[in-house]
Amino acid sequence: MNTHVKIIEVGPRDGLQNEKQFVATEAKIELVDRLSAAGFENIEAVSFVSPKWVPQMADGGQVMAGIRRRTGTLYSALVPNMRGLQGALAAQVDEVVIFGAASEAFSQRNINCSIAESMDRFQPVAEAAKQAGLRLRGSLSCALGCPYQGETPVAAVVDLAERMLRLGCDEIDVADTIGVGTAGRTKEVMQAVGQIADLGTQVSGHFHDTYGQALANILAALECGVRIFHSSVAGLGGCPYAKGATGNVASEDVLYLMHGLGLHTGVDLDAVVDTGTWISAQLGRDNASRAGKALALKKAG
Ligand code: HMG
Ligand code: MG
Repeated sequence: MNTHVKIIEVGPRDGLQNEKQFVATEAKIELVDRLSAAGFENIEAVSFVSPKWVPQMADGGQVMAGIRRRTGTLYSALVPNMRGLQGALAAQVDEVVIFGAASEAFSQRNINCSIAESMDRFQPVAEAAKQAGLRLRGSLSCALGCPYQGETPVAAVVDLAERMLRLGCDEIDVADTIGVGTAGRTKEVMQAVGQIADLGTQVSGHFHDTYGQALANILAALECGVRIFHSSVAGLGGCPYAKGATGNVASEDVLYLMHGLGLHTGVDLDAVVDTGTWISAQLGRDNASRAGKALALKKAG
């Protein structure tokens, strides 16, 4: 049995993008460096989006220029269009992430175009990214529900997944943007996506934890054969276009679960706990990771 699980740390991007106060570039760089040192094999470090839409991510180029790259870690950036791709290429990222939605209403709010238009925009981005030898990932927002449309039909998720694969995505992210999914629904969606993609190598689970279901959903996805998950140190985050949605599931909680199951992540949980304590203090927020808080308390004796 394959006991390796890839955990993609998305805190520097999905986590920080929602912070109201601008987080200093130096703090962003230190966050990525600490996460690299903890051993994550993939870190979603920045996005190259319109600073009018998400001002917090305006310094992506500087962040990428300032970090210490660890051999064995891939650094990813979200890009919505060719302008974003140019930023990502200049910053020498390893992977670009195009992001679509399985819901028309969310697509309009998040990237200001329909699903079909987003595919037209992504086409040249995907081609140029591949030509440059980069990995390509496609995110499927609202796969388990939409803040504007409510339930998302499974067929809409599969349709978007198919389109992303046709664009050449190496990996596709089934994303529960607002954390409404339940374990049963997660299985249903993963099994449907599994009809057109290899769940063990091509599909990831990206769960926000708004309703406290993320760990249960991860376990359900694991049982379906998914071996790639996204998480955010200290459970940072939310989405600027999904009001009330909380952060991603906390990395510390996911690592505690995986290691408890005897699965290997290559990540030093202890180092992530310290990073979670540090970034929570930097941002003046409560640490949203239950395992992170418990382990930090235990350590303090
Ligand atoms: P638009 O306003 O329709 O596009 O936005 P535009 O082409 O008219 O551009 C508007 C302005 O932005 C122009 O500037 C452009 O030059 C500039 P102006 O001429 O007015 O001075 N611009 C850019 N600047 C820097 N980098 C760029 C860029 N593109 C345009 N790449 C657009 C369309 C897609 C650009 C906009 O809607 C956008 O940037 N959206 C991003 C929203 C976003 O980042 N959302 C959060 C990430 S997605 C997420 O969190 C979900 C995920 O975690 C999965 C899940 O949980 O579901 C991935
Ligand atoms: Mg997200």
